[in-house]
Amino acid sequence: MAQGETSALIANEMLSSNKTIHLFNSFEGLPKPTEKDQLKDDIFSLGSMDAYTGTMSCPEEMVRSRLKAISFPHEKFVIHKGFIEQILEDDSNLPQKVRFAFVDFDFYEPIKLTLEFLHQVTSKDAIIIVDDYDYFSLGTKTAVDEFVEEKNSSEKVYECLIPNTKFGYFAVLARKG
Ligand SMILES: C[S@@+](CC[C@H](N)C(=O)[O-])C[C@H]1O[C@@H](n2cnc3c(N)ncnc32)[C@H](O)[C@@H]1O
Repeated sequence: MAQGETSALIANEMLSSNKTIHLFNSFEGLPKPTEKDQLKDDIFSLGSMDAYTGTMSCPEEMVRSRLKAISFPHEKFVIHKGFIEQILEDDSNLPQKVRFAFVDFDFYEPIKLTLEFLHQVTSKDAIIIVDDYDYFSLGTKTAVDEFVEEKNSSEKVYECLIPNTKFGYFAVLARKG
């Protein structure tokens, strides 16, 4: 689904904290896949990876109304609207320090870029969850595996935990250094 449910779930856990949640979405659905995004699980039975372009879009208003429904204060969230590739270049209001991130972009390019960004703004004990690891598009697993291998090349900076798939398909990156 792509209806702001995860955002509301995480925001709900932050109700009593003074931290800000930063939400990133194109609000235009999935971009065009690249070659690294081979279709592993045809979740909507569309027949090809290309056919998923533009799917999973969600109106910004839906995210806002879900946050409103849990009485999440508007001064504690920032919505970054646009493709992450552009946002990371142009946006002057990016988070400077991140302790927890949930990455759910489905495709290789945006996930790899996001992980590189998060590497700059996280430190020891940060947790990054990447959804759909080894599920739907193979690009997610490729992006995570490449990132972890590169960052751990001289010392172990990330522990990568892959839970049993009965809990879902995701990778947990725990920053160790
Ligand atoms: C699987 S959905 C996320 C669902 C979300 N976790 C929820 O509970 O609503 C993937 C989302 O990533 C967004 N997306 C994919 N690639 C993106 C990119 N390059 N930049 C910004 N948003 C992107 C899509 O618009 C889509 O809403």
